[in-house]
Amino acid sequence: MTGVSQTVGPILTHVVPHARRSRWLFVFGSATLVAFLLQVVTGIALSSAYVTSSGQAYDSLHFITANTLGRIVRGLHYFGASAMIVLIGAHTIRVYLMGSYKYPRQMNWLTGTGLLLFTLLMAFTGQLLRWDQTGFWTAVVAAEQAGKAPIIGNWLARFVLAGSVPGGATLSRFFAAHVFFIPALMFVFIGVHLYLVLYNGISEPPAAGRPVDPRTYRAWYHRLLEREGLPFWPYAAWRDVVVGFGVVIVIATLAIALGPPELGRPPDPTLVAASPRPDWYFLWYFALLALMPKWSERWVILLGPLIFGLFLIFLPFVSPRGERHPLRRPWAIAIVICALAVIAHYSRMGHLAPWSPRMDAPPLPAEVVGTTSGPIAEGAQVFYDKGCEFCHLVSGYGGIRGPDLSNVGDRLTRDQMLTRILSGAENMPSYAGNMTAAEQEVLLAFLESRHQFQEGTPARPAAMR
Ligand code: HEC
Repeated sequence: MTGVSQTVGPILTHVVPHARRSRWLFVFGSATLVAFLLQVVTGIALSSAYVTSSGQAYDSLHFITANTLGRIVRGLHYFGASAMIVLIGAHTIRVYLMGSYKYPRQMNWLTGTGLLLFTLLMAFTGQLLRWDQTGFWTAVVAAEQAGKAPIIGNWLARFVLAGSVPGGATLSRFFAAHVFFIPALMFVFIGVHLYLVLYNGISEPPAAGRPVDPRTYRAWYHRLLEREGLPFWPYAAWRDVVVGFGVVIVIATLAIALGPPELGRPPDPTLVAASPRPDWYFLWYFALLALMPKWSERWVILLGPLIFGLFLIFLPFVSPRGERHPLRRPWAIAIVICALAVIAHYSRMGHLAPWSPRMDAPPLPAEVVGTTSGPIAEGAQVFYDKGCEFCHLVSGYGGIRGPDLSNVGDRLTRDQMLTRILSGAENMPSYAGNMTAAEQEVLLAFLESRHQFQEGTPARPAAMR
């Protein structure tokens, strides 16, 4: 009466190639779809309790997380996002290595490229919605980076932030993008992508020495299906079902066992942290940008993604025919290995993160400060409160983004230190106007007391002064 079985029936039982060996490699697409649908469900649940205002977003997430169910839903959404990135990555690599983008499936590849881009944008916009220090500063840093791009930089940065400074409008813009624009585009693209998978047929596993020839391919594929095709349901689909369930179970286990990422401190624009650590899937890119020579940065920011994007878009049109088997396309294997190696290497660097402030550094202990009262002790407190310690090491405590200040009293004069503090530097914020005269006074007293050989150490040679 509804025509559902007439429509769905043929789709479920359409004939697909009989893959003998690489069967399990064909499940990543449907697994990505499962993760996406989970994101839709958990996302709707989250949005029903989330408040899109810069004053309340953080508190509303705290409220959600305090509730057991809310905590699990946030965890599902977080690990669902990670799963989607991993699965769409695996799907892209599979399609690329097997040459499945070749004739007649170029449009499948192109819509898939769009979906890959949208997935990355979802991950990025979602991180800001957390609206804690990390989420907030990630967006700020991203906007700063975008702003360095030649020509369109300024416009791009203003577009990302919805203004010249991050604030409530930024949050609204990211929220609208995250829950309306990008998902709407994704539904359309997924629809077209699936339609094309049915229309062109799923690609058969590649065989070395059997190149694609656009003139004969469709007829050949048709004969292949007639000869040895199998109905999609249940012969191929059962693997998609098993993996789909597996994905949900893994995500749910992680969500319950580990829970969502801790919310950091609420964003505080006066607390200057120059580069926070983004979620794991973007860590490598941030590390790459941070570790690159300064002069190349503005070019890599724009050219990197541009070259990657153009490569994906033009690939199926540049090589629509020829061998599909990876062993006959060594370049494809080399490109995938290089890309994975770069991502792995910079993810590791990002984890070691000398470039990133250490936000969890504890206050300096008394034996390091050398006293528990007076200006030096107060100065040590200012050093901690103003976030200097996030970037500077003192006797083994603190971050290593800036120079080690353990014996700065030996190296710099009071005036040199004051100039640096007030004017900042390339990777150090300026504290002029962000510190009272009294704070300055005790901070300098503290810094001046930092010597390689502390007061009272008998072995201190006179020449060291
Ligand atoms: C976001 C990280 C960051 C924060 C926060 C930070 N600094 Fe720095 N600082 C740096 C970097 C990076 C340099 C090196 C700048 C350069 O030489 O270009 C530096 C340099 C310095 C120097 C000069 C050291 C030398 O050996 O030349 C002093 C002194 C200093 N900072 C003190 C402070 C004090 C005091 C605070 C807190 C009020 C502070 N910094 C906060 C990153 C930071």
